[in-house]
Amino acid sequence: MEKIDLIMKNFIAELGYEPANAMFARINSGKKLRSKLLLKIAGESEQSLKICAIIELIHLASLLHDDVIDDADTRRGSPSINASFGTKNAVMLGDILYSKGFYELSKFPHEIAGEISGAVSKLSVGEMMDVDLSAKFNEDKSAYETMIYYKTAVLIEAAAAVGAMLAGLEVSNFKIYGKNLGLAFQIIDDILDVTQDAATLGKPNFSDFKEGKTTLPYIYLYESLSEVDKEKLKSLFKKDLSETERGWVRAKMNETGAIKKSIEAAKNLGEQAIKSVEKFNVDGLESIVKSMIDREF
Ligand code: FPP
Ligand code: MG
Repeated sequence: MEKIDLIMKNFIAELGYEPANAMFARINSGKKLRSKLLLKIAGESEQSLKICAIIELIHLASLLHDDVIDDADTRRGSPSINASFGTKNAVMLGDILYSKGFYELSKFPHEIAGEISGAVSKLSVGEMMDVDLSAKFNEDKSAYETMIYYKTAVLIEAAAAVGAMLAGLEVSNFKIYGKNLGLAFQIIDDILDVTQDAATLGKPNFSDFKEGKTTLPYIYLYESLSEVDKEKLKSLFKKDLSETERGWVRAKMNETGAIKKSIEAAKNLGEQAIKSVEKFNVDGLESIVKSMIDREF
């Protein structure tokens, strides 16, 4: 992973603008799930590492813009770039990372460049779907699933597909793996927002509902509440919840099995992911799914 960090750093340094380098140095590049996945499938080479760096640059760019859109002050335990340097800089740094990623991507064969660039268009549509869905209390599970596929799973799906292309393996099976892993990843993220504390998450907890995001645990919860409790839940939507109100939401989520059902949904997707690539015997793909599901942040 350090090699990928270095390639990214050098890509930005090639642009020759010191303020961009300084700001980029303040970003924590995170778990790099997409790269781990790609390298497990394709193995390490100059080419695969460069593609990982490109994917991570695009992913970081999307998070810079997402933190502006979500008005988020913290990312991965540190102040977000918009909090430290202002929203204008966060947007512009995102543009730099994103366009440099695309410039480097243009040097690769069309099959690879097309897979990743197509995914980035979908990712952008996904973010718009997320914002649109947040306008009101969403009870529609299929709208949520479509949105998380676009917002999160498509780039993970593309990383798996490109890994398979480099390794000469059947792309369609690896896309199924990446898609299901990506969907499960976002569901786990949405569960952790409710079950974990801010220190563990490295960002505030209970922020989804406050931002208008009725994620899977909330959809399951709503389905099984009484009419009176349904109204109570709706009255808390988009509010900064008190400790008592958070306690109520958590208790109801446990009582109704909403958290358990959400974990089951993520586990199911994880199993489907593993099944789709079983016959290829690629080492480590099962453990990526398992550690992603069992994570605490
Ligand atoms: C995090 O979601 C956001 C994403 C996974 C995608 C964001 C995509 C864009 C802003 C569009 C693409 C932009 C570029 C420059 C390529 P979240 O808010 O649910 O998660 P969080 O809690 O980690 O913020
Ligand atoms: Mg966000």
